[in-house]
Amino acid sequence: MAGTGNEQARKTAEGLAYHTGFGNEHSSEAVPGALPAGRNSPQRAPLGLYAEQLSGSAFTEPRAHNLRSWLYRIRPSAAHPPFVRAERHALRSAPFTDCTPDPNRLRWNPLPEPAGPTDFLDGLWTLGGNGDATQRTGMAVHLYYANTSMDRRVFGNADGELLIVPERGGLLLRTELGLLHAEPGEVALIPRGVRFRVELLDATARGYVCENYGRPFQLPDLGPIGANGLANARDFRAPVAAYEDVEGPVEVVNKFCGHLWTATYDHSPLDVVAWHGNHVPYVYDLRRFNVIGSISYDHPDPSIFTVLTSPSDTPGLAGVDFVVFAPRWLVGEDTFRPPYFHRNVMTEYMGLIEGAYDAKAEGFVPGGGSLHNMMSAHGPDRETFDRASAAELRPQKIDDGLAFMFETRWPLTLTEQARDAGHLQRGYDDVWQGLQRHFRP
Ligand SMILES: [Fe+2]
Repeated sequence: MAGTGNEQARKTAEGLAYHTGFGNEHSSEAVPGALPAGRNSPQRAPLGLYAEQLSGSAFTEPRAHNLRSWLYRIRPSAAHPPFVRAERHALRSAPFTDCTPDPNRLRWNPLPEPAGPTDFLDGLWTLGGNGDATQRTGMAVHLYYANTSMDRRVFGNADGELLIVPERGGLLLRTELGLLHAEPGEVALIPRGVRFRVELLDATARGYVCENYGRPFQLPDLGPIGANGLANARDFRAPVAAYEDVEGPVEVVNKFCGHLWTATYDHSPLDVVAWHGNHVPYVYDLRRFNVIGSISYDHPDPSIFTVLTSPSDTPGLAGVDFVVFAPRWLVGEDTFRPPYFHRNVMTEYMGLIEGAYDAKAEGFVPGGGSLHNMMSAHGPDRETFDRASAAELRPQKIDDGLAFMFETRWPLTLTEQARDAGHLQRGYDDVWQGLQRHFRP
């Protein structure tokens, strides 16, 4: 049963068309003539559709930060019954107050497989986070493990945007603005408030989600790098309009201030026939990342690997950065080439999409994760240190892994389920225990 659905979803996913570019003002219509010409809200919208604005920023924010899309839909979103509270399973939200913030270095194995049928929404498991969803500050780290597609069920998050990082299994994301396909090695972003359904392209799907309560992710400034590099805007893909004209019960789950609310609609809310705007979902292939590094000595701080950044009120200080450690050449002369030992005012949650990470010889596995909280000391393990200190410094390609980081300005507080998880590794500190003294005064 699941197999047939997966195959159909995969066929759909692999045939998708896209708009390209980051932050663009796109226009799209699934039926010719569905977009009104020359105005957003004509007296009668074309084809008997309803016009509706979806705002991702305040109306009055500067043009460079202003996000909104106009949707032309079969029914307005306002036509819905009351929401009632719903079970949120392992999904938690900021503020995180159940645990004392922990300065220890922590590492987890992958989430265990769910016992019964579990879709993307029910499969969300919150590790921790910071800030406050009601104040639109901070972020949360979730993992997901799903073995079934969302069926007659749609999710929307009023609390923030969702950056989905698949680690295992492809996803077909059916959103109000159209369809996206994301495989491991790609990331998908669902903007605040945009409703969507996740269909699996393989038997199971596993991965990570950064929920960003703060300013929407944008591309980092490039400064002296120049006009090109890192994640290039043209490589981001947004959907083209695609709608469902489905009558009958559809559950719509709304995450609002940390809780889930549900309502049964008599139609699918994925009924947008045309749209234009810049508040749009998108996908990005991390293998397109233009990695920039040193061609002399040392290596730049890992901020050079920033894909997307959510700025805060302080220039240069991100609420959260999404950073990727993509395949790259190491050529530094007289340089310790793995990431250096450091203590960081920022907090680092790392995950691994495939392969291995060059600072950790073992224990950090795809689907797992590590947390190095504010000012916690970390760096290469002993084996990596010994090897890198003695290595012959020929040009070397790092191409056996794809790791990433959610790096945030605030300490990250765990949920109880993350603190007490059976898949929390015991003895992570041991990887630094064998570092010998070499001091010879
Ligand atoms: Fe670090």
